[in-house]
Amino acid sequence: ARVVVLVSGTGSNLQALIDATADPGYGVEIVAVGADRDAILALERAERHQIPTFVVRVGDHPDRTAWDAALATQLAAYGPDLVVSAGFMKILGEQVLADHTVVNTHPALLPAFPGAHAVADALAYGVRVSGCTAHLVDSGVDTGPILAQRAVPVEDDDTEDTLHARIKDVEHAMLVDVVGRLARHGHTLTDRKVTIP
Ligand code: GRF
Repeated sequence: ARVVVLVSGTGSNLQALIDATADPGYGVEIVAVGADRDAILALERAERHQIPTFVVRVGDHPDRTAWDAALATQLAAYGPDLVVSAGFMKILGEQVLADHTVVNTHPALLPAFPGAHAVADALAYGVRVSGCTAHLVDSGVDTGPILAQRAVPVEDDDTEDTLHARIKDVEHAMLVDVVGRLARHGHTLTDRKVTIP
């Protein structure tokens, strides 16, 4: 399956996907990596692997609808079967969501701790277990149907960084597994229940 990965930061999840594609049996070709900002490690990772990149900045467009349309145009050029939001820190708009199946990875056990500060929020709340969630993206913030979740223990001396690092280790494996299965088998969606045959 043709996959475009959207990124905003360090791209460790992207790297896990790139590494997985070394096995042709994985069934994924990363045809492009898109970002909402320049000069990020994630784009360097893509370039290092000769994967085409594009950047669509919110600030270059009059409003979010125009930004969404520009992102949709870029995505259409690569004809992806699946779009993966891997640390992409923008809410996707109607056009992109109308055109594509989008998978997002989130560093908490949804529906707990949605939003951009999930790891800090979980730590501040005092949960003893957190984790990560892969879900289909809908128009809400981290509200779409859940594909997979993995639990990660919170240690007494955790900081946001140490907890996020522990979550990311598990998140990489979860995302690689889910994206591969979706790419190879597709999915059906009934109400909020996702089935990968
Ligand atoms: C991941 O934990 C993702 O769930 C969150 O931001 C992090 C991105 O990490 N939204 P990376 O850029 O893949 O290293």
